[in-house]
Amino acid sequence: MAIQPRTWVVFLLLALLSSSWPVAEASHRVFPDLQSLETEAEAEAGRADDTLRTGYHFQPPMHWINDPNGVMYYKGLYHLFYQYNPKAAVWGNIVWAHAVSTDLVNWVMLQPAIYPSAPFDVNGCWSGSATVLPDGTPAIMYTGIDGDGRQVQNVAYPKDLSDPYLREWVKPDYNPVIAPGAGVNATAFRDPTTAWRGPDGLWRLVVGTKDNHRGLAVLYRSRDFRRWVPVRRALHHGDTGMWECPDFYPVTPHGVPGDVKHVLKVSLDLTRFEYYTFGAYDHATETYVPDAALPDGNDGLRYDYGNFYASKTFLDPAKHRRVLWGWANESDSTADDVRKGWAGVQAIPRKIWLSADGKQLMQWPVTEVESLRGNHVNITDRLVKGGDYFEVLGLTTPAQADVEVSFAAMDLDKAEQFDPAWRGADAQTVCAARGADVEGGVGPFGLWVLASDELKERTAVFFRVFKDGDDGKHVVLMCNDPSRSSYADHLYKPTFAGFIDVNVTETGGKIPLRTLIDHSMVESFGGHGRMSILSRVYPTEAVGDKARLYVFNHGESDVKVTHLNAYDMRSAKINTDIDQPIR
Ligand SMILES: *[C@@H]1O[C@H](CO)[C@@H](O)[C@H](O)[C@H]1NC(C)=O
Ligand SMILES: *[C@@H]1O[C@H](CO)[C@@H](O)[C@H](O)[C@H]1NC(C)=O
Ligand SMILES: *[C@@H]1O[C@H](CO)[C@@H](O)[C@H](O)[C@H]1NC(C)=O
Ligand SMILES: *[C@@H]1O[C@H](CO)[C@@H](O)[C@H](O)[C@H]1NC(C)=O
Repeated sequence: MAIQPRTWVVFLLLALLSSSWPVAEASHRVFPDLQSLETEAEAEAGRADDTLRTGYHFQPPMHWINDPNGVMYYKGLYHLFYQYNPKAAVWGNIVWAHAVSTDLVNWVMLQPAIYPSAPFDVNGCWSGSATVLPDGTPAIMYTGIDGDGRQVQNVAYPKDLSDPYLREWVKPDYNPVIAPGAGVNATAFRDPTTAWRGPDGLWRLVVGTKDNHRGLAVLYRSRDFRRWVPVRRALHHGDTGMWECPDFYPVTPHGVPGDVKHVLKVSLDLTRFEYYTFGAYDHATETYVPDAALPDGNDGLRYDYGNFYASKTFLDPAKHRRVLWGWANESDSTADDVRKGWAGVQAIPRKIWLSADGKQLMQWPVTEVESLRGNHVNITDRLVKGGDYFEVLGLTTPAQADVEVSFAAMDLDKAEQFDPAWRGADAQTVCAARGADVEGGVGPFGLWVLASDELKERTAVFFRVFKDGDDGKHVVLMCNDPSRSSYADHLYKPTFAGFIDVNVTETGGKIPLRTLIDHSMVESFGGHGRMSILSRVYPTEAVGDKARLYVFNHGESDVKVTHLNAYDMRSAKINTDIDQPIR
């Protein structure tokens, strides 16, 4: 499938003519062939749901998106590519859409960078990564679906290195550079990582695959980035089904150079969640051994305990940080998506690093997001008695806000016993059994976001503290409960949760929380970034200026809000046309 360049020119022209998106309506009239799955009436009706579009999370004006791809920094610009269907709000016709930014917050939309055009990708251009070569040239490695339906890995280079936008990409005729060899499942062989170079000067990258129910991260090596040779033994494997979107990168404990660990992240196709380990990687033997305490697979650590998938990191040379991008799909129905005319959002870009105690990765929204903060509400030392709640007043747009709050549980002795029957069960099961409305000892306490008048609709983000055994140890559950988020009853509303590694004895009962609220996105960070949970919700009443924000405490122990800083968030300038000057 080749997309028609003419369509994009008109698209951009329309963008220029209208001061703000959505342009869906206009482009719809001009090019009905783009809306192959929508009728005019459906698109019209769908505009009502624009209230649920995000204001500062990355989303193109319309249609389907999934995985972030090829994220990188080049000549002063951040590049984000992503899987995109230019024709509809359902998966299909996948191209690499492209956007650039100076600050990871405001974006200029460009034409798709990579789209099916050659025998080695005629049936699709799927996910991949960028590698900036030592001479500064970026190379993209992506999965093409060839004429036989095989998944092959292709390379592409910018046509004009002097164009900071890197608008045009060239795919050499010698593609594919990595074809599925003997014994490799050609329909489960995809998502090449960013490449890295060992002390021996050889390039390496990892591709995700499976062998029956075993997921594999297979390693390839190359001297010239063109001829790639498989390393016989996989870098790592697990009994967890297909491994998609692997990511492999170094982190330095305590920022100590030389003391390097490697992180291996995989997206499990079977569970649709992402897991990671970190440990020792040896270039000479091509072995990766996760630290002993870190289990692989379903019992392992997760990037995010909610709706976050197919993520990818890149090293930001401008700010000396590693930045994580991930995709959040919709939790409504396909019919809803077709009616809305859009599906899929990118999570807020997050800085990611190894915790000071070396036990896990930490994540925090990139600081640039704070540039969108507006009007500010500040509450200090407010006591919330057991069973009480209060509304946070003073925000203009509680549906589009950034809330930082620190809770202090006043009486940890009131914590409930952790039911031994839950031992080994995942946090999600515990949270489903002890949701936001089940009274506890210490907690549930937290925020009700996207709440309607009289609290009929509300999404709870909260903590619950348990006592585990008699030795005074505590277990802290962080949970997102959207079961009352919307009147609509056909939605997927799972509780998402994790056990967060906060030692409440040490912190005197204090647990911090930050929640980014963005109409249909609730993206929360607990314990200064020790745990994140992203959830999609679709309120029917708590929309736009009707949404409200509350603090609640449904536990026996009083809780003090030691401080709460809530900010209105301005909309990011996303989908800005190329012809408008970039800041
Ligand atoms: C190869 O992968 C496809 C897609 O997941 C699967 O349907 C098929 O069973 C796999 N084949 C083998 C031999 O494992
Ligand atoms: C997307 O949404 C559906 C629910 O509609 C869910 O079951 C699925 O696992 C989600 N995640 C991904 C990564 O597809
Ligand atoms: C919030 O208010 C307190 C006390 O009035 C003050 O000390 C603090 O600096 C304020 N915080 C912010 C972020 O404005
Ligand atoms: C929590 O902190 C307390 C006080 O510093 C300490 O005694 C205890 O060992 C810590 N618990 C864990 C599990 O680390």
